Amino acid sequence: MPTATPTPFAPDFTWGAATSAYQIEGAPSADGKGPSIWDDFSHRPEKIAGNDTGDTACDHYHRWRDDIALMRRIGLRAYRFSIAWARVLPEGDGRVNDAGLAFYSRLVDGLLDAGIQPWVTLYHWDLPLALHRRGGWLNHESVDWFGRYAAAVARALGDRVKHWITLNEPQCSIGLGLDRGIHAPGDRLSRAGVLRAWHHQLMAHGLAVRSLREHCRGPVQVGLASTGRERIPETNTPADIEAARAAYFEVTAEKGVDSVPLALDPVYRGRYPEAAHAVFGRDMPGIRPGDMELISEKLDFIGYNSYSGERVRAGADGRPVLVPPPRGRARGTLSWLNREDDCLYWAARFQTERYPGLPFVITENGYCGTDWIALDGGVHDAPRIDFTKRYLRGLARAAAEGVPVAGYFHWSLLDNFEWSEGYQPRFGLIHVDFDAQTRLLKDSALWFAGIIRSNGAAL
Ligand code: NOJ
Repeated sequence: MPTATPTPFAPDFTWGAATSAYQIEGAPSADGKGPSIWDDFSHRPEKIAGNDTGDTACDHYHRWRDDIALMRRIGLRAYRFSIAWARVLPEGDGRVNDAGLAFYSRLVDGLLDAGIQPWVTLYHWDLPLALHRRGGWLNHESVDWFGRYAAAVARALGDRVKHWITLNEPQCSIGLGLDRGIHAPGDRLSRAGVLRAWHHQLMAHGLAVRSLREHCRGPVQVGLASTGRERIPETNTPADIEAARAAYFEVTAEKGVDSVPLALDPVYRGRYPEAAHAVFGRDMPGIRPGDMELISEKLDFIGYNSYSGERVRAGADGRPVLVPPPRGRARGTLSWLNREDDCLYWAARFQTERYPGLPFVITENGYCGTDWIALDGGVHDAPRIDFTKRYLRGLARAAAEGVPVAGYFHWSLLDNFEWSEGYQPRFGLIHVDFDAQTRLLKDSALWFAGIIRSNGAAL
């Protein structure tokens, strides 16, 4: 018997890939779907690079069977996708659209038949437009809207779906959508407004956790996928590590809702960080009795999307100093996506140290390039392979040191609609020709298949 190659990953480690509804589905009004804020925003002139929209995207709504067949070729153990709220509830609340739920029910059955675990995200930024018109996340009722939506999905899919993510990156749906106005719905609220919407979204998360536990059949694993920019100690000295930790968990007015503990402390500790009160003062949301208990409903794992970061060292006074990046730093085709090899190691370590007791799952990590089909007919995305290998080695290091890492989802399964950047940045393991709607496995997909087969030993 050949001996198995050693791997730091547990035998039941979850290997997957991720997508979201608006970015891949298309079919914006099929089978009774209502409009979302992204259907509206992407049709406004000059909001999206090239005036692209998600009207067709990857046409996954019609091609999901083929896409599952491709997932099988990669050997995915899990697939993370999101539900379009307005397919299920065209007006966001009230009338349930059974045809919309039926689509996801077929998808879940198809995945299970293929031996792939569905990981369902309830909210990946596509708020029903009707709810936005009622004030969206600024309206306190948004908490109950989301709770009822979660219950409707749980009743339909909760007999088969065991893994759930309530919100994807509240930092972006609130920060880019309601603060900076570069994502849907394109608002630029006051700081107090932004923080009020933030508080409601976190409460909505908590109520969804309760709905899922109540309406799914049997035990479920529930988490939230947040994000942040990693802070990597320049050296392994205790002073640099402490400086990186301090920089990672700092709350500043400049970072606003991107301040990492603004999401994580309420969710995992049941309180906003002290520093948030000091920094935001009277702009902090009013907290009513019961709010923090709701926000900190017990979760089953820490979900986290990680892409890039900065190196940090301790200054003469011990305080963090950002190390200037090298000229011509390694990065993807989006400027924020720079390569720092130990991102996943430090993200996993810092978070599980501060919020102990839960497994840690990378719910997104990936690289964007300009990948095209070469003359020989293949897509040779060597940078994606190298990037992902370096990040996964960081995760392997964390696992080897005993950090409870439980899963990794690559972003993304398919090239897709990258929000305000349109279709130009390609994140997929699978190349999509958006005109012909043909798919082709990139070299990275074949490489990732080998990583999955070896449970990470081939890294
Ligand atoms: C985070 C988001 O969840 C996803 O929708 C986006 O496409 C990727 N990061 C890449 O920017």
